[in-house]
Formats: sequence, structure tokens, C-alpha cells
Amino acid sequence: MSEFVTTQQIGDAADFVRAHTSHRPEVGLILGSGLGPLADAIDSPDVIATADIPHWPASTVQGHTGRLVIGPLAGTTALVLQGRTHFYEGYGMDRVTLPVRVMLELGIQTLIVTNASGGLNPNYRPGDLMLIRDHINFPGMAGNNPLRGPNEERYGPRFPDMTQPYDPALRALAHRVAAEAGFALREGVYAYVAGPSFETPAELRFLQMVGADAVGMSTAPEVVVARHAGLRVLGISTVANLAQTDPTPDAVVTHQEVLETGALAVPRLIQVVCGVLERLSEAG
Ligand code: HPA
Repeated sequence: MSEFVTTQQIGDAADFVRAHTSHRPEVGLILGSGLGPLADAIDSPDVIATADIPHWPASTVQGHTGRLVIGPLAGTTALVLQGRTHFYEGYGMDRVTLPVRVMLELGIQTLIVTNASGGLNPNYRPGDLMLIRDHINFPGMAGNNPLRGPNEERYGPRFPDMTQPYDPALRALAHRVAAEAGFALREGVYAYVAGPSFETPAELRFLQMVGADAVGMSTAPEVVVARHAGLRVLGISTVANLAQTDPTPDAVVTHQEVLETGALAVPRLIQVVCGVLERLSEAG
């Protein structure tokens, strides 16, 4: 057997999903820690436990139930992945990103990724929503790019362009939707680190110096695989906590805090995502 996930395995997973829903999703959503309630906005969805899907990497993190929720959402048909898997859970990057290729096989053309992050930009506050304009894929730059291994020409080229990883028209639309709903979105650079330990103060100062506005443990691998295949991507990060670059003696960052602040931002996140979906035609 190949060392890497094969197109056959991706096909098997896609066939399983097709066999368990009559919906034909156009938009894929991958939800981060504490952001699962977004899937509740789908009316009478088909729900598939990801544990039942062949070759799917099982999610092991608290706050990440592994489910696909498929059905009508804000004028489109969406497939929502609740409970993504992360590299730190022990999977290879090819397995972490298998869901994106399954989405592709299902005919999805637009991907919305959400995550929780730590704020590095000193102007940010917990609960802020940040549109991701660009990312720094530290594990990718160090050799763990999800496209490492044989290139599948079926999906895209060996050396894919990454000059506009996050679609400018979708970002502009998200800003309009938020402004009309009475709040502002941040926009910035997301630094992807492998985790699972949170960053040390020196690591956080380093990330600030290289121009990152927020740091988190997901998203970049999925976006690289999505862009390889030409999917349009919108990325939204919930700033769950602030970077402790100069910590007080009792400062700590906990997963619980990340989940709780993530939950506070869910109503605005739902407004932005649903508003963007309703007005997708405005983004060309
Ligand atoms: N660091 C990395 N990942 C995170 C953080 C953080 O501070 N908060 C939420 N996800």
C-alpha cells in the first residue's frame, strides 16, 4: 500500500458520503473549536458520523465531534465538517486534508474554513473575528506541506500558485455583510503552528515579528490542498485568547478558555457565514 492517501481511498470516502445523502453540496465548511453550533443553522440535514466514513481520520479533541452535516443553508447547499482533525493528533498531512479532497470529489467549489486562534496583534480583543488574508504555514515551510509526495495531477499542478490563498472577493463580501450587520471584522495573517503545546512567550514574540496577527493549530493544510485544486477559500478566525508575550506570573492559556470565547463569537460568525452564502453571487 502507498505511504500516502490514494485517490482510490478518497473516492471510497466520497462514494460513502454520496450514498448517505441525496443533497449535492456546493459549499464546504470546516468548523473549528467551539464553533460547531454553526451546523445547527442547517434545516433537516443529513448527518454522517465521520467515524463511519472509510479512511476518514478520527477526531479526538474535546469540542470537535466528528460529523458531516449536509443540507440547505442560506440559499445554497452546504456540507459542514464538525470536528476537523489536526496534525498534532498524529495523522499525516495527507490524512488531515483528506476531507478537502472528498469535498472536491463531491463537486464543492467554495470552502469556508473557521478556527479559533490566539491574538498576536496588540489591537485585537478576545471574541474578535479575523478574516484570514494570508497565512504562514510553518510546518509546511519546514517540510510538512500536505502536497508532499506524488502529485495527483487530477487535482492540480506540482507547484501550485499561492499568491491569493484567501479569495479577495469573498473577503470583501464578508466585510460588507458584517458592516451591514453593525460590526467590523479584523483582517490579518494567520500563523499555522503544529501544536499541541501553546506557544512560549519567545515563540509568540517571534510570530509577531514575522508579521502574524493570530496563531493557531489548523487551517493552512486544508487551504493549501483546496488552492492546489482551485477551490475558492474564505477563512475566518475567532480570536479566543490573547498572546501572553510578557506573561504575568499567573497567566495561563487553556483549551476551556478557547472553547468558551469561541462560543461567544458564534452568533456573529453565523451572521457572516450565512450572509456570505446568501450573497455569493456578489463575489462573482
Ligand atoms: N495558540 C495556538 N492555537 C490557538 C490559540 C493559541 O493561543 N488559541 C486558540 N488556538
